[in-house]
Amino acid sequence: MSPWAWAELRAQEPLRALWLALAAAFLLALLLQLAPSGLLPGCALFQDLIRYGKTKLGAPPRPAVCRAFDVPKRYFSHFYVISVLWNGFLLWFLVQSLFLGSPLPHWLHGLLRILGAAQFQGGELALSAFLVLVSLWLHSLRRLFECLYVSVFSNAMIHVVQYCFGLVYYILVGLTVLSQVPMDGRNGVVIHCNHRIPFGDWFEYVSSPNYLAELMIYISMAVTFGFHNVTWWLVVTYVFFSQALCAFLSHKFYKSKFVSYPKHRKAFLPFLF
Ligand SMILES: NC(=O)c1ccc[n+]([C@@H]2O[C@H](COP(=O)([O-])OP(=O)(O)OC[C@H]3O[C@@H](n4cnc5c(N)ncnc54)[C@H](OP(=O)(O)O)[C@@H]3O)[C@@H](O)[C@H]2O)c1
Repeated sequence: MSPWAWAELRAQEPLRALWLALAAAFLLALLLQLAPSGLLPGCALFQDLIRYGKTKLGAPPRPAVCRAFDVPKRYFSHFYVISVLWNGFLLWFLVQSLFLGSPLPHWLHGLLRILGAAQFQGGELALSAFLVLVSLWLHSLRRLFECLYVSVFSNAMIHVVQYCFGLVYYILVGLTVLSQVPMDGRNGVVIHCNHRIPFGDWFEYVSSPNYLAELMIYISMAVTFGFHNVTWWLVVTYVFFSQALCAFLSHKFYKSKFVSYPKHRKAFLPFLF
């Protein structure tokens, strides 16, 4: 490995280590779910931390102490409020820096260096990072709109740790994108809040096409980064395992709740998993 490539790898270590650790944690959680039920950790806290929303209903009975940390799942909208504001703010600074030549604020520059901003790549990465940040911002805006005007949330819950993770997640994703820049329908009528078997389009192939679409969004951002950005592929790996876990738990939930659940339907990847 050339000295430059080695130096770049080391400079990116904190963020890469973080995404690698998150990907590994979700891979482990997924493998534990796939293991025979006798090997599954019975610990209520573990189940509480990996399940949220409707998949909590498929878990063993939850002690009162666990329920004390419940937060309504409709608070998902807070993640996207934070993301639209924070990533809009980062986008603003990036536009100023790329197109008007203004330096990033000292505190942001310092933070990016601590996190391991790229320092040895070509200038074309700055444009890729700009496009990815615009996509992330638009994606968050779309999700916020969806949470406020389309999704109909039941009384589903998430754990307060998952809630805090969701808040920090979009801050970290935005910083990860910026660190790649070289330095120097609610309109319908609500009939009920039950979870039913979804049909049509991609639902014919997988139980959770929304999680698959989320993965594809992050892969498209990897394409925008030119395929070879290791840090972003670690983010994609994390998204893959976290969404695979959610999809697997949803799939199990549907199969346990509906005897007529389509047998050919996979959890996450059409025809495969
Ligand atoms: N990047 C990440 O790390 C990350 C992490 C988590 C989620 N996400 C993304 O955020 C988006 C939303 O995630 P989510 O976990 O909230 O998705 P979800 O469980 O499919 O819920 C989306 C909406 O559909 C409702 N719903 C779910 N299953 C239903 C069914 N069988 N029948 C009727 N309504 C149903 C939910 O109501 P209830 O809430 O009442 O169940 C909610 O209003 C996804 O696109 C996901 O990819 C991203």
